[in-house]
Amino acid sequence: MTQSSSSLDLPIVYKYHVFACFTKRPPGHPRGSCMENGAQPLWDRLARRLDAERNPDVCMTSSGCLGFCRAGPLMVVYPEGIWYHPETVEDIDEIVEKHFKGGAPVERLIIVPNP
Ligand code: FES
Repeated sequence: MTQSSSSLDLPIVYKYHVFACFTKRPPGHPRGSCMENGAQPLWDRLARRLDAERNPDVCMTSSGCLGFCRAGPLMVVYPEGIWYHPETVEDIDEIVEKHFKGGAPVERLIIVPNP
């Protein structure tokens, strides 16, 4: 459920809050990074989809390293705490359609299931 502040009319509670890792390390860095693993076009697609749909229940926030760099690109969705490893823009579309619009997480893209 979304609530609005009375003075700014901004959403203060999101149904889904997405943190997408934008960390980029130099090529060959031992930890790797999500941006080196191809995150940019995926996050671009996610931002475009969310912007186009103007769904106030979903917020995307750029994050720093989430700690599992070599498994990137990574994004985490709260409140469930679901970790996704999308590889294609079609994966992003599937997450938007099934999870954010339909309420059903995309199991095949989850890398750290919420216990
Ligand atoms: S660089 Fe993205 S999880 Fe570490």
